[in-house]
Amino acid sequence: MKKGKIVVAYSGGLDTSVMVAWLKERYKAEIITATGNLGQEKELKGVREKALRTGASKVYIRNLTKEFVEKFCFPALRAGALYEHAYPLATSLGRPLLAKMLVDVARKEGADTVAHGCSGKGNDQVRFEVSVGALAPELKVVAPLREWEFKSREEEIAYAADHGIPVTATRSSPYSIDENIWGTSIECGALEDPRRMPMADAYQRTVAPEKAPGKPEYVRIEFDNGIPVALNGKKQDSAAIVQSLNRIGGAHGVGRIDLVENRLVGIKSREIYEAPAATILHFAHTELERLTLDKPVFDLKSELAQEYANLVYNGLWYSPVRNALDAFVIETQKCVSGIIKVKLYKGAVSIASRTSPYSLYSPELATYTKRDQFDHRASEGFIKIFGLPLKTVHRVRSNGSGKIARHKIHS
Ligand code: ARG
Repeated sequence: MKKGKIVVAYSGGLDTSVMVAWLKERYKAEIITATGNLGQEKELKGVREKALRTGASKVYIRNLTKEFVEKFCFPALRAGALYEHAYPLATSLGRPLLAKMLVDVARKEGADTVAHGCSGKGNDQVRFEVSVGALAPELKVVAPLREWEFKSREEEIAYAADHGIPVTATRSSPYSIDENIWGTSIECGALEDPRRMPMADAYQRTVAPEKAPGKPEYVRIEFDNGIPVALNGKKQDSAAIVQSLNRIGGAHGVGRIDLVENRLVGIKSREIYEAPAATILHFAHTELERLTLDKPVFDLKSELAQEYANLVYNGLWYSPVRNALDAFVIETQKCVSGIIKVKLYKGAVSIASRTSPYSLYSPELATYTKRDQFDHRASEGFIKIFGLPLKTVHRVRSNGSGKIARHKIHS
């Protein structure tokens, strides 16, 4: 009988390494690993050798950074997608792209199964499986962490030793960390107690605000239709802009987020995030929208931003509703071009300057000097009509006839 093939989403860590050997043994299958580079700083060097030594017959390593930033992060930025008003969704945005990579490799290799190393109580299993199901309904998905016999890290390490799997000797972190160019997600260990502040060692890519430089730094960000295109007057490619802002923001302690959030699987969890570039870009983008969007569009877009964030968080990237929301968002961004200058100082990002050829801020209308063009007299009639319904309500429900009216309303 022909041996089955399984494509494994592989990071090189303990879980996915044990998975390669375990799947090979359990399913008697040929194992192909696929690793996506989403711009994480952690080196992917050695991953190929490790996968092969662990029992993979073939290894794919793909650099997806540019695609990740341009097709996932920037659309989410443009939409203003911050989950529960706080989390820029780095991990959530990465999963649908990694799922797509798994599907591509599976099709290329003629595999009928893909596997991921997500646990049974997180959001990531949902994102992987819903995305694979949408892109390739014919593929089977296995999630060994939901079904294997190991109950602790120690048991996994013992299995690894038994099977000659190289386990990195470095002292393992007490945290579970997921990193990509859009941000780092850190949970577990002491972070599980929401009464406590995170230990200093939990943070991976930002300095503590109190240790940040005593002098502010200013950065000018240029947007074109809601997409960042230049930093400090220099056109740069998308990933370079994000990398620079991660470095500069991180040095000023910007982008630390400490969040108790609602998981899709029904529990609250506490996680901390570090996302210097995403924090700065979301802030700057919103400032530009304050300048260039009219109120009804700004308001409606803010509401839909929550919908957008929820569907990204819930693993529905490949859904018709996301496409429909993107169409709306793109329409709103036709005039969201201009330059925002931000100030970074001791963990905070604040506005320093805004300019746009589409600015709706009209100095002749706003000024209190003699250049003023606003028609003050017209306000009188405006207020009369604007306030008319309220005046009527209060007149009818109070003085004299008020009692009868109130009685009628409540009966
Ligand atoms: N809570 C975040 C999300 O659902 C991140 C999950 C992964 N976190 C981690 N530390 N491995 O998107």
